[in-house]
Amino acid sequence: MTADTEVPLARGPPSTCEYEASCAHAIETSLGIQGLGMHREHDRIVTELARTVDGADPFAAAVRASQMAMVITDPRQHDNPIVFANDAFCALTGYARDEVLGRNCRFLQEPETDRVEIGRLREAIAEGVPVEVRLLNRRKDGGLFWNRLFVSPVFQGDDLAFFVASQFDATSEKARLEHLETDREALEREVERRTRDLSESEERLRFVLEAGRLGSWSLDLHDMRFAASETFKVVLGLDPDDPLGRTAYEALIHADDRARRDEAVAACIAGHGDYDIEYRIVTPAGEVRWLKFRGRPFYGDDGVPFRLAGIALDVTDRKHAEAHRALLANELNHRVKNTLATVQAIVVQTLRANLSPAETRDVIQGRIHSLAAASDVLTREKWDGATLAEVATTALAPFRADGDRRIEVRGPEVMLTPRQALAFSMAFHELATNAVKYGALTNGVGRILLDWDVLAGSPFRALRLTWQEFDGPPVNPPTRRGFGSRMIERALADELEGRAEIDYRPDGIIFTAQARLPEAPAGLRD
Ligand SMILES: Cc1cc2nc3c(=O)[nH]c(=O)nc-3n(C[C@H](O)[C@H](O)[C@H](O)COP(=O)(O)O)c2cc1C
Repeated sequence: MTADTEVPLARGPPSTCEYEASCAHAIETSLGIQGLGMHREHDRIVTELARTVDGADPFAAAVRASQMAMVITDPRQHDNPIVFANDAFCALTGYARDEVLGRNCRFLQEPETDRVEIGRLREAIAEGVPVEVRLLNRRKDGGLFWNRLFVSPVFQGDDLAFFVASQFDATSEKARLEHLETDREALEREVERRTRDLSESEERLRFVLEAGRLGSWSLDLHDMRFAASETFKVVLGLDPDDPLGRTAYEALIHADDRARRDEAVAACIAGHGDYDIEYRIVTPAGEVRWLKFRGRPFYGDDGVPFRLAGIALDVTDRKHAEAHRALLANELNHRVKNTLATVQAIVVQTLRANLSPAETRDVIQGRIHSLAAASDVLTREKWDGATLAEVATTALAPFRADGDRRIEVRGPEVMLTPRQALAFSMAFHELATNAVKYGALTNGVGRILLDWDVLAGSPFRALRLTWQEFDGPPVNPPTRRGFGSRMIERALADELEGRAEIDYRPDGIIFTAQARLPEAPAGLRD
């Protein structure tokens, strides 16, 4: 048999394990070595393999002509030398046949050849079993290639007679695999990075939502499944771990707000607009809370909405503040009107008294000043009301010199409504002005005692107040009632929801008033 012999090439697919195993079997059968078990026969075969003539055996011819590089080694000889190498092997390695015959195949190996793979190969050879490995080999010209090597034993009866091997240049295959591996690793890293980015951004979103106490929710419009974030559940007065389905959620919506909510949902889905609504929910503990919702519907490619999702914020405090502000605005409006009416009354009545222009100016100024002083007291108290002592001290301050003990004020602490405070302030101003003009404060010795007490009664508490003048000049009852007296008696009685009257006793006037006291604490009311 000769390697140079032209024989029809057995073309076919690259080697597979099965293919090589069948080649080994072909060699056994074609060379008639099965079962012979004789060294003589083995030697004959070796001789036959080495022959340069082309034998007529079709199987041997196939091995010789195979495009798959193949070698046969003889394990019975020292160091398992190559006894046959086909043309394809010589072409693959770049060595001539006589350069390889008689040598162990390891001469092809590189120092960096994977020792683990070589170990597997050695073990298989020692045990006489087939093996497939991938080794780094060097061609004669120095070029490296990845050798996908399949080695299979050939038995002569029970005795190992030969090894047949095929070599396949798997460099491009290996490179492709490495490329694929690199791509896969890069892809995995990218997926990992994106997953990390996503979870970081989800984490950030969760943080922002929590920091803003924003609950998030979504409603699947296909199966009407409702999902709520932990914060949203807390806003609803639930435990973060409580399950919350749509039906349970619907039950929390304030009955008076449900229809409005339904309309808003339908309108935003139909109009592709934002969902923006505030409505009340009633927590399981019965507390009513105002929630602000913002969201939007999501549509599929077919234009059909599949989800409504958004955030919710507890705006109960803001709602209360708004209601309080509206109340305050009304209150202020009312007070301004009242004050203007009072100012108007002061001016009209003072003018009617036919005083000199200078007196008129002084009286008007004094009265308006007293009104302003009482307003100051109330403003200090944020218009929640003021104590009677505060009102009296402020109103009487212009009539008391430093260290002056002629006006004595005493009584328990009593909180007045803003309206009562204004009325008393004006009354004290009028009484003191009269005292300066006609009464106890006209001389150097007269005194005034302002005192009060509280009568606990049912259904409300009452205030009884007395203004008494001593040691002034003898009192002459006025021939006609001026604005001062009228305001004190009539207006005050109205404002106080009680009585007020002046008794012009000759030894000093006595003013008494009874007023209904507010339920403590006094609030913003008339
Ligand atoms: C039939 C046969 C063909 C072989 N072909 C190759 C080969 O192409 N390249 C290679 O690196 N090793 C090849 N080897 C492996 C070596 O010859 C040797 O068995 C291996 O390096 C393990 O033995 P060692 O540790 O003594 O070197 C082949 C072995 C056999 C039995």
